[in-house]
Amino acid sequence: MQKMLNLGCGEQYLPNWTNIDFVSNSPDVIQANLLEGIPCGDEVFDFVYCSHVLEHFSYKDGYQFLLECKRVLRPGGILRIVVPNLETIVHNYIICLNKLREKPNELDWANYNWTYLEMFDQIARNKTGGEMAAYLKNISKYPNQDFVKDRIGDDFFCIPSPNHQDLPKPTWISRIIRKRDFRMIFLRIFLSHKELEYLRIGRFRLQGENHYHMYDEVSLKDLLKKTGFTDSQVFSASTSFLPSWDGQHLDIKNGKTRKPDSLFLESIK
Ligand SMILES: C[S@@+](CC[C@H](N)C(=O)[O-])C[C@H]1O[C@@H](n2cnc3c(N)ncnc32)[C@H](O)[C@@H]1O
Repeated sequence: MQKMLNLGCGEQYLPNWTNIDFVSNSPDVIQANLLEGIPCGDEVFDFVYCSHVLEHFSYKDGYQFLLECKRVLRPGGILRIVVPNLETIVHNYIICLNKLREKPNELDWANYNWTYLEMFDQIARNKTGGEMAAYLKNISKYPNQDFVKDRIGDDFFCIPSPNHQDLPKPTWISRIIRKRDFRMIFLRIFLSHKELEYLRIGRFRLQGENHYHMYDEVSLKDLLKKTGFTDSQVFSASTSFLPSWDGQHLDIKNGKTRKPDSLFLESIK
């Protein structure tokens, strides 16, 4: 049986695969920080899949991470990288910008605002979800629901539920018992309001939600070449060097491309 690895799997983990993420809510997901290396032996896997993760690393970290991907792949193994496609994001932005120069209507403004968020929000945000989550929460008020749905696919349906706010607040005793809060009590005594804010932002920006780099076909192929991969090729969500690939419930879900804003690129070790 072929050995398959899903790096930074999030909630998209599959049985019979090795799944790894920072955050694990399942025994099927190994918890690890991929920036500290991939916790697997050399030349173990036939196929390494990594969707919407590489852009969360700086260019330098991304380079090291791809070397790690190469290490765990057997010779001839396939690396499939899926990232938001910088080229289509920029292309859409230019189209939307030019429309505003003509005779803009409400829809043109809404599309422009969304493409602007696609370019900057995940780089700039200092809190979970950023401005995108706020936009999606209020999507019913905007005229461009179809445009946004076409861009982000399944993520459109992950609009934060207001029910989250209904969770019971932790009691002061349970807060003290939680180790981090216990440390926070001391930090609140010794740090100024501004220093606490620096700490909060620093923690947030290192937890893996921000984007630190973006790729198009050319820059991603170039990085893969630099790390020693060969035969880089762009695919669709449903095609691959792997003959049995049909989206594998990862890039195609319920018959649709899960993340239509993506660049799907594969390379061979
Ligand atoms: C945008 S989500 C993509 C999740 C999934 N691959 C998908 O396609 O839906 C990025 C994932 O990468 C994980 N991640 C980011 N930085 C990481 C790191 N340094 N180590 C491990 N996982 C990381 C996050 O926890 C998150 O689950």
